[in-house]
Amino acid sequence: MSRRPLIAGNWKMHGTVAECRSFLQALSALPKEWARIDTAVFFPFTALFAVRGLAGDRVTIGAQNLYYEEKGAFTGEISPRMVREVADAVLIGHSERRELFHETDSMVARKIRAALAHELRPVVCVGETLAERDRGEAQAKIERQLDAALAGLTPAEAEKLALAYEPIWAIGTGRNASPEQAQEIHGVIRRWLAAGGFPSERMRILYGGSVKPDNSSLLLAQEDIDGLLVGGASLQADSFSAIIDAALDRLIP
Ligand code: PGA
Repeated sequence: MSRRPLIAGNWKMHGTVAECRSFLQALSALPKEWARIDTAVFFPFTALFAVRGLAGDRVTIGAQNLYYEEKGAFTGEISPRMVREVADAVLIGHSERRELFHETDSMVARKIRAALAHELRPVVCVGETLAERDRGEAQAKIERQLDAALAGLTPAEAEKLALAYEPIWAIGTGRNASPEQAQEIHGVIRRWLAAGGFPSERMRILYGGSVKPDNSSLLLAQEDIDGLLVGGASLQADSFSAIIDAALDRLIP
């Protein structure tokens, strides 16, 4: 694949500072071939400062959210500048943020722009519910989310983004999308990007939702799957590194 694979872990609300540190320490003992792919972990805010630099430049440190305002009376929120002090990437629009914390498409769009303004690399999540899939509305939902999130970005701005297709019915359920189902939507996303004048061939589209070491190779074998966003299986260094190994295997012609 011409695009460099990206394997990203989303720790959600898991991990004390000590747990995040020991995870990264375990990863840093692993082989050098890892430099051939990109690896990122989205840790809880509370651990970001403490883990910076622990994995050298091998693992990009990411936050799971930010607020789009620069500063002010927003109790409990964290500004893009604050995030930039401790992270290089940020997850935006995860379905748990959208569903549990009522993040709208327009908030997602503002967060993307705020992240870009502070040179944070956004990983932007989209995905449909099971009911939407059953009604045959998966494609329309994804395109609507992309319209709202990316409209008005320049090609150069869009190129700084990675997208993550995460069908909501596959997250934390043990039921991953089949490689064919995932590829179908990844193809939709790639074509949407091209039609909008974005550099679709250079942009990475990750799949997320019940990714495990034993299903990652088949998912990564799909033409338009450029990486994985891993929740539960990213919490242990051994399962996360097994997924990274699957991505390395994919690089071998
Ligand atoms: P999961 O989560 O791998 O535990 O399904 C993925 C995600 O929500 O990013």
